[in-house]
Amino acid sequence: MRTDPLSYLQTELNSLKDQGIYRTLRELSGEQAARSTFDGRSVVNLSSNNYLGLTTHPKLRQKAIEAIEQFGVGSGAVRTIAGTMEIHMELERRLAAFKKTEAVVVFQSGFTANAGTVSSILSKEDIVISDELNHASIIDGCRLSRAAIKVFPHKDTDAARKILQDLPAGPRKLLITDGVFSMDGDLGALPSLCALAEEYGCIMMVDDAHASGVFGANGRGTIDHFGMHGRVDIQVGTLSKAIGSLGGYVAGSRALIDFLYHRARPFLFSTSHPPSVAASCIAALDVLQEEPQLIERLWENTRFFQAGLRQLGFNTGLSESPITPVIVGEGARAMALSDRLFQKGVFAMGIAFPTVAKDKARVRTIVTATHTREDLQFALDVFAQVGRELAII
Ligand SMILES: Cc1ncc(COP(=O)(O)O)c(C=O)c1O
Repeated sequence: MRTDPLSYLQTELNSLKDQGIYRTLRELSGEQAARSTFDGRSVVNLSSNNYLGLTTHPKLRQKAIEAIEQFGVGSGAVRTIAGTMEIHMELERRLAAFKKTEAVVVFQSGFTANAGTVSSILSKEDIVISDELNHASIIDGCRLSRAAIKVFPHKDTDAARKILQDLPAGPRKLLITDGVFSMDGDLGALPSLCALAEEYGCIMMVDDAHASGVFGANGRGTIDHFGMHGRVDIQVGTLSKAIGSLGGYVAGSRALIDFLYHRARPFLFSTSHPPSVAASCIAALDVLQEEPQLIERLWENTRFFQAGLRQLGFNTGLSESPITPVIVGEGARAMALSDRLFQKGVFAMGIAFPTVAKDKARVRTIVTATHTREDLQFALDVFAQVGRELAII
């Protein structure tokens, strides 16, 4: 009989189980909302990136439905063949105006925006200088580009400077950081990195996936928040988090966007979004303009929840955003905390190595604008109870 050539996968899975970090996927019934039903249990949902509650906003729903009725459910081709619809171009124009750049290209996801951009603008003669905690899609883009990768310790601009000082002048250099770090919720060292990029003639790139819709005027992101317009060559954003729908985009100069139209492989070789996705994203940009109170509410909720966790004695790391980690140490401990919280009605995902360092496993929480005070107080009460039970506080 043929031996299973994939048997090593089961061995790896068994090892995850032995370490207490094997996960099953939690199943959501109904809508992605502040209170949702996962695995049949009604919980306060602190695990989604739905910062402003736009996944279920009536205007986005309506525009998506209208687009389906008018244009159908699919685009039928990649953008460069027959898959560029008027509504895709309208979304790109709207995003460029929002981000205050010359142009924007939309990708299928934030992941493909990062990976597709870095891999197409660099080649093996070039060098990337990258924060150690940058998102996986940046790391994969760097690897695909075959450029040399130099990693600096998290937010350490002095270390990045030392790397640059030792590099030869010739090769092209890309300095890259997340705007908001997705596991710690802290902000990239944008002002000092922009200055460094200017001093050493680097291309400056920021992945603002968790900042769009959250930081800056009307949610324009960390470039707006820090007043760095015109100093970042490549801005990446996602349409899948605060914007509530799906997709990613790159904002920058007309030449950058034209180049990506010609060379970015996910753009060239994968079908564009259904028109309903583009329509809902355009509607989201309207909502950011018309309902600034959503962002205010998000920040009020963030302040309330973070203060509550800190008062209870939890280690919330260095968060400066609605992403608040509760750092507990070992992976198995984080998973136990997450499971116990879930049993008591709070959904906050446990995150362990290799997503975060081995001794910094955590439960990651994200509040949204649509959580009520009662939801958040309930979550804090459950955290207090379970934290004591597991001797974390
Ligand atoms: C920092 C960062 N960049 C990019 C992405 C990818 O975005 P998307 O979910 O739209 O692919 C994520 C999402 O996990 C992220 O956290």
